[in-house]
Amino acid sequence: MGGGRRWPGRAIEPTSTDEIGRVVNRGLRARALSVLAANDRVTYTVPSGLLYPFQWNWDSCFVALALQTVGSPSEGEDRAWRELETLTRHQWTDGMIPHIVFHTDHDGYFPGPSFWGTECSSPAGTPTSGITQPPVLGLVLEQLWSRSSQDDSARLRCRALVEAVNRWHRWFGLARDPQATGLVSILHPWEAGRDNSVDFDRALASVPITDLPAYERRDTTVVAEAERPTDDDYDRYIALVVLFRGLGWDAAALHDASPFRVVDPGFNAILLASDRALARLGPAVGHPEIGDEAARRAAIGLDALSELWSPDRGQFVCRDRRSNLLVDNASIGGLLPVLVLDRDDVRLHHLCTQIEEWLQLAPFGVASQHPADAGFDPQRYWRGPTWLITNHLLAMGLRRTGRDDLADRIAGSSRSLLERSGFAEYYDPLTGAGLGGSTFSWTAAMAIELSMPHPSPLGEVDRLGDREPPRL
Ligand code: DGY
Repeated sequence: MGGGRRWPGRAIEPTSTDEIGRVVNRGLRARALSVLAANDRVTYTVPSGLLYPFQWNWDSCFVALALQTVGSPSEGEDRAWRELETLTRHQWTDGMIPHIVFHTDHDGYFPGPSFWGTECSSPAGTPTSGITQPPVLGLVLEQLWSRSSQDDSARLRCRALVEAVNRWHRWFGLARDPQATGLVSILHPWEAGRDNSVDFDRALASVPITDLPAYERRDTTVVAEAERPTDDDYDRYIALVVLFRGLGWDAAALHDASPFRVVDPGFNAILLASDRALARLGPAVGHPEIGDEAARRAAIGLDALSELWSPDRGQFVCRDRRSNLLVDNASIGGLLPVLVLDRDDVRLHHLCTQIEEWLQLAPFGVASQHPADAGFDPQRYWRGPTWLITNHLLAMGLRRTGRDDLADRIAGSSRSLLERSGFAEYYDPLTGAGLGGSTFSWTAAMAIELSMPHPSPLGEVDRLGDREPPRL
């Protein structure tokens, strides 16, 4: 289903000067391009044709990075912007960018469009889900812009996307941080993108599952049950959707009504990193006021993030906003603040030590749960497996702090997973076996990022136009 589009693949420089490295890179890129071509729907990309047949928010963002490198420079750039424009076209009037856009009818996924009942809120015509996903869009926009032509058309398109992201980030403040603490809550594990992380076990257990409508899971018809969340998890995921639907998806009511309210350090670090990206990008596309606003939000959030630091764990942890207690668990969410910590922050050194330790224990890393913890399950979705997008985010964060050595190690482990097991949704961090859906778009996109000559470090501001970026 390539949508009639040509996928010639732009010539790129290999990451390695070594001839074997060159061939591996070319082969990997060609195979990754064919995965993306199969999942291409012309104006958007599905994560995986069978398992996830619609547009997913953060999947599309990661995929846009790869799309930018396909075909001629202008073709690639156009397709990347278009992927994100399609997503933001479905932004709700209150500013939320939903986690799924149901562009077509398809009965291969549950809960599908009719279950969400978001007609009252989603923009006319195309149904969406009613929750959001990790806000990587700002981060991705900065990368796309820094590698784009930066001509008038690119500026206009990027500018409109920056406006959309800023509206979304304002929505986070209003809807997900009503007490103005500087940190936002997620109201559903699907919002974290790390659905069944051990982090959420306790909060999820408090979600009542009485009076649940009958429903049928579709995911386990495609993927082995042992690699997916349990039925009990699913009951609670669905119960939350039913509860929110009953509240008419009114963002002002949802936060306090939700029995699941978790402050996730990974999610917040991504939001902060995206705000920092907006702070640099706003001025470059003619919105210095957005840059200033985003820089203010980022400074407040970074301060507040300290509340999630666990000296015992040597990393950040979640906080249950209902009980106000920290969740004593070491997941990859608590390592993601490498995206925002300063290079002389002692906590950064602790996070690097953790990453090194996790890689020691589970070499095909970085695992999604501490490999020595009782809750670690190397095959079950976000309770242990390695995901290339989190590897990518960690490596980005590490490069910006000068830890290229560790970033290279992580990139090397991503590469060996791709070579060993193809474009799986996720991987067993102990054996390197592929798990979940196969021929996965964001994994293919990360393969293409890995084959690029220079990974784009965060905060590469010198190529972002004339104006000095605000100091953060
Ligand atoms: C799923 O359906 O498994 C997704 O993670 C929800 O977005």
